[in-house]
Amino acid sequence: MTSAIEFPAIEFPGEELSNLARRTIRQQEPVALRTFTPSQMVLARSAGVFHWTPEGRRLYDYSSGVLVANLGHNPLRWMQRFANYMGWTGQVPAPAGTATGVVPLDLATLNIEATPADAFFSAVTMTAYNAVTPIEAEACARLVRNIQSWAGGKLLDTVMWAASGSEAIQKALWACLHRDESRDLIIATRYGFHGKKGLAGAVTGCETDHDRDPRVKFISFPMLEIDDVSRYGQTLDLAPYRKELDELWQAHGKRLNCLITEPYLGGGGSYHPPAAYLQLLQNFCREHDILFILDEVQANFGRTGCMFAFEKYGLEPDFVALGKGLGNGVPVSAVVGRGDVMASLKYGEASDTWSANPLGCAAVLATLDEFEATDILEHTRKLTPVFFEGLNRLKDTGLITKVRGEGLVFGIECAEAGGLTSKQVAIEIVKAAYLGRAGGEGIHLLGPLAGNVIRISPPNVITLAQSRDSLQLLHDVVQKLAQSWRK
Ligand SMILES: Cc1ncc(COP(=O)(O)O)c(C=O)c1O
Repeated sequence: MTSAIEFPAIEFPGEELSNLARRTIRQQEPVALRTFTPSQMVLARSAGVFHWTPEGRRLYDYSSGVLVANLGHNPLRWMQRFANYMGWTGQVPAPAGTATGVVPLDLATLNIEATPADAFFSAVTMTAYNAVTPIEAEACARLVRNIQSWAGGKLLDTVMWAASGSEAIQKALWACLHRDESRDLIIATRYGFHGKKGLAGAVTGCETDHDRDPRVKFISFPMLEIDDVSRYGQTLDLAPYRKELDELWQAHGKRLNCLITEPYLGGGGSYHPPAAYLQLLQNFCREHDILFILDEVQANFGRTGCMFAFEKYGLEPDFVALGKGLGNGVPVSAVVGRGDVMASLKYGEASDTWSANPLGCAAVLATLDEFEATDILEHTRKLTPVFFEGLNRLKDTGLITKVRGEGLVFGIECAEAGGLTSKQVAIEIVKAAYLGRAGGEGIHLLGPLAGNVIRISPPNVITLAQSRDSLQLLHDVVQKLAQSWRK
């Protein structure tokens, strides 16, 4: 049985072009490739904080991809810098495209033997496997320099590139495990998300999930104590967390190799701990020579209002995993950390086709340029209270019970309502935001996290006026939904 038959089709009336794209994908790709969302928005094009559907409806992007486009979608100056780093500027003539932007290609007329001399142009290579490029050297140097300029970054002196967040996590864990193979156990914080592949999947979730790796020992991450912004600032009782760590040490001692955590539980439902909790983990690691890995794949490059979360939380990790916003849309990730530990891996043990490819390096350089030349971090911090206020106001509708977050990454937890479970309410809100207000303007939300939590994470370049307008739009949509259930 194919996935197209097992799962109900997501289509919306009047969306002919969108429905065609959804249908084709449903028939040609396994459902496993998609994550569930009730809107399955078809993105025809994007600019800044907006996406457009093929039918021409404009939606605010409250996802930033999935915390990727921190600088917004297709930022012109970033694109110019990116093209410059690649050596494309002035070399690629604008295509004589059709209205859809697709250049017609008549394959029958192409004769390779008769290829004209100007069919190729000289620029930075797009693939450099088994070689190195100057742009890779520049990206390493710039990334390390930037990281080390922030308090807490001093141990982070060496870069291991990859293409996705989970690969960066995998490489960090490989390096730690190789440092001393007699120390074979990994500590991970429960309900974290580090990816789905290999060791990244092994440290994700909790001990009762399927297909567990016995080398991973899970510990608690604060959730209940910090489940709403109104509880921020209260003192967290660290004693139970310390006890768990001490018990692990008593049980396993020197077999404990490393500890991996996210600065805040992202995919787990947006739980943002007090700094003292993360510092407790780090202190425990230091006491026992356990390596401390901070997974900043979704936090890095401004999401928390700081360039890196380690600075915000007063940490000094041995490794930091970076991804998503690192390339603002170009697939690139990295683990940056202690070169003495990474040296335990031999030639090729962390290599693959795409690691350190020039496209990724150019994207990192262009993204660093933007962060270093603009006030985007300060801007993010100014917007945080605006979003807290706007999101807290949603509680008045009765459909939202909890609001959590920091910087420009928030989670709003849904209530039961209208005879629906909180998970169903979350789904209805995502759908209603997609359909938007009369006139068609809406908000693109990701499918709910952890069941009943909706992620709010617009690009960090959203303006104050756009923030207010989109928060009002969200309020209108949620209120209308609440009223429809009260009738
Ligand atoms: C904190 C964190 N770590 C790792 C990953 C995995 O990244 P990727 O999907 O690029 O493999 C994610 C993805 O959402 C994440 O949020």
